[in-house]
Amino acid sequence: MRGLEGYCLGIESTADDFGVGIASFDGEILANVNDVYVPERGGIHPREASRHHTIVAGRVIAEALNRAGLKPREISVIAFSQGPGLGPCLRVGATAARALAAYLNKPLVGVNHCVAHIEIGKMVSGARDPVTLYVSGGNTIVAAFEARRYRVFGETLDIAVGNCLDVFAREAGLRPRADKPLGAIVEELASRGKSFIQLPYTVKGMDLSFSGLLTAAINLLREGKYPLEDICFSFQETAFSMLTEVTERALAHTEKPEVLLTGGVAANKRLQDMLRVMCEEHGARFCVVPKEYATDNGAMIAWTGVLCYKHGLTIPIERSHVKLKWRLDEVEVPWVEQ
Ligand code: ATP
Ligand code: FE2
Repeated sequence: MRGLEGYCLGIESTADDFGVGIASFDGEILANVNDVYVPERGGIHPREASRHHTIVAGRVIAEALNRAGLKPREISVIAFSQGPGLGPCLRVGATAARALAAYLNKPLVGVNHCVAHIEIGKMVSGARDPVTLYVSGGNTIVAAFEARRYRVFGETLDIAVGNCLDVFAREAGLRPRADKPLGAIVEELASRGKSFIQLPYTVKGMDLSFSGLLTAAINLLREGKYPLEDICFSFQETAFSMLTEVTERALAHTEKPEVLLTGGVAANKRLQDMLRVMCEEHGARFCVVPKEYATDNGAMIAWTGVLCYKHGLTIPIERSHVKLKWRLDEVEVPWVEQ
């Protein structure tokens, strides 16, 4: 059933994805179209990714409207990912959103990308008040709602776990495919690993560090003494145990009823299993966000745009500059009750 009140079009462009989603005010996702920039080799080049976004923007917006069966004038609110992210990429989404808002004379909402991951995860999984583990190529965050905000209980002190997996995989000579990101290739190899090799396990207070693990794993590759499967297995066991430990401590501290796993790395079955077992021990429900909504997507920006709009959080175009380092815990989330 269509919402009676209106629709929000949301644009996501923090990194390598240009996504457009459309959500009704009562929480139905009518479209979620994504176009990903895949570099020929190596990691993301912000300028090349932003060039990609500029080229595909018009087509992705038109396709989302088409899928939703809506005309531009039927959209009531325009939302965009305002940060954190890569400057050149964020600016493409912001520019498209400003142009649409000005042309259609509709209100504009700037959404925090990390808040959006949590809100879409809650919406699609039915979680109400979770400890969230958000693990992707750019982020590693353990967060939970407390006193009007999503507080960061733990985070990486250096690189994100997804990035750690990707750099390791490239160093091992693995190549991503459209249907198989590097993390998934490591997962497949790891499932055939037999022996555990000790690697640096770094949890400092509630925070994590992955750079020592990465260096040690690369050194093992170069030594050439161990099968790749065993290195992948040990790498995953170490990284995911660290994540599970910090999530468990946040759960014990906050006494929340649920754990929500999201971000691109959430697709990993071994990580899911570790967290599921930990949740069972604490009597908490384990929720994992389906891939379409766990990786960067426009629907999460559209849905969070609805929540912001309903609470009057719109911004004038002249104050809609992007915020490259906008932290999750800087954002007030008045729609969550506690
Ligand atoms: P963000 O902007 O939120 O940091 P991102 O641009 O990194 O996101 P995502 O799609 O959320 O994009 O995450 C991509 C990461 O997820 C990559 O590091 C990739 O290797 C990893 N990944 C994907 N599938 C798996 C898997 N099965 N196991 C482990 N990691 C995976
Ligand atoms: Fe993301």
